[in-house]
Amino acid sequence: MSEKNEKIKLSVKDKSYDLSMHEGTIGPEVIDISNLYSESGNFTYDPGFTSTASCKSRITFIDGEEGILLYRGYPIEQIAEKGNFLETCYLLLNGELPNSEEFTEFSEIIKNYTMVHEQLNRFFTGFRPDAHPMAIMCGVVGALSAFYHDSTDINDPEQRRIACHRLIAKMPTLAAMAFKHSLGQPAIYPKNNLDYASNFLHMCFGLPTEESKVDKTLAKAMDKILILHADHEQNASTSTVRLAGSSGANPFACIASGIACLWGPAHGGANEACIKTLEEIGSVDRIPEYILKAKDKNDPFRLMGFGHRVYKNYDPRAKVMQKACHEVLDHLGVKDNPLLSIALELEKIALEDDYFIEKKLYPNVDFYSGIVMKSLGFPMEMFTVLFAVGRTVGWVSQWNEMIEDTSQRIGRPRQLYVGSKQRDYVKLNNR
Ligand code: ACO
Repeated sequence: MSEKNEKIKLSVKDKSYDLSMHEGTIGPEVIDISNLYSESGNFTYDPGFTSTASCKSRITFIDGEEGILLYRGYPIEQIAEKGNFLETCYLLLNGELPNSEEFTEFSEIIKNYTMVHEQLNRFFTGFRPDAHPMAIMCGVVGALSAFYHDSTDINDPEQRRIACHRLIAKMPTLAAMAFKHSLGQPAIYPKNNLDYASNFLHMCFGLPTEESKVDKTLAKAMDKILILHADHEQNASTSTVRLAGSSGANPFACIASGIACLWGPAHGGANEACIKTLEEIGSVDRIPEYILKAKDKNDPFRLMGFGHRVYKNYDPRAKVMQKACHEVLDHLGVKDNPLLSIALELEKIALEDDYFIEKKLYPNVDFYSGIVMKSLGFPMEMFTVLFAVGRTVGWVSQWNEMIEDTSQRIGRPRQLYVGSKQRDYVKLNNR
């Protein structure tokens, strides 16, 4: 970040203030208001942080108008097409793609951490079998803080590195354990001769009674889902992780807070909600009825999988996902998938509709990811969990970057207070 020579003049009532401008490598310049309150006594008001850069970051860049997503400068389409998830993890964490030696070493480190403490198994038996797996994930990931005390000192870079590696390695194991718990099946141990995505599918769909065989095409699709979800700059869950981490909380607790935030239907829960919408629509001929509902101001219905806070263009991840969707269904020999037919027709109609054009509502990553996840054999409840598995590397990379940033302070937004002015307490019998 470099400060520009020019200053922005801000006039508040009869006084004016010179505000610095900073420019990054790409993207909009920012106006520095960090001293505004101390100098003017005013706060800025920006609900939902639509115009506020909360930090500086080198990890991920999005140009929402153009539909561009870069991980450390590399376009998401290229990484998804040519790379793999573990390589993406290395890139996000370390800033550069690994050479083959670095990749082998990194893979070995991650494999070394795939098992979880045996006692953690007991947590799962405390949950009802019908517990939502995201509820389980919120609990057990937070509980990791109680198991790995040797990687909770956030001021020690080596401990931070170990915590990041542990979280990347253990998330698929915990996610698979949550899934197995819902099925009433025993947890399947990780198999370290498998790649990351294949190992995850093995733990989810393998059985202790059978030799598990992971389908290569399905593992590739799983890997792609993880790559596409790996990071997305300062989204709600990542900002939650940063905010939790800004107080000095340990990494496992911070990631648990990210999982909780991700669960919401406006964020990671949208993939689950999107499939529900497609199922509710049920057939192509009912699409116009649902388009009308989405456009009706008096109807709270939203077309899930459409629209994005940042993308005012086609989400580049949705394009990759649409292709992956066709590949998986072709591979499985599904000639006519009703949900995909509805999705394709819905997309076609929405992209030509004035309401969606005017509001710049395009399909987002969740629009197709649910169909792929369903085709891989996952129930809807697991969709957001898969998102969390992929996003863990983004969360830990952003968390680590924040700790290393010497300008970082505890996150503490201000407010515009609209409640009662000061008044005197009235005793209960006088009210
Ligand atoms: N269907 C119908 N109308 C919509 C939709 C939608 N999916 N999304 C936005 N709109 C409309 C809103 O009603 C609003 O209309 P108005 O201007 O007349 O009031 C306008 O478009 C702007 O919407 P906001 O909610 O203000 O936009 P915001 O940037 O805050 O919301 C969000 C983005 C939450 C993603 C929204 O588009 C949405 O709810 N989409 C559906 C859920 C979804 O798919 N979420 C996944 C996001 S991607 C991810 O997390 C991986």
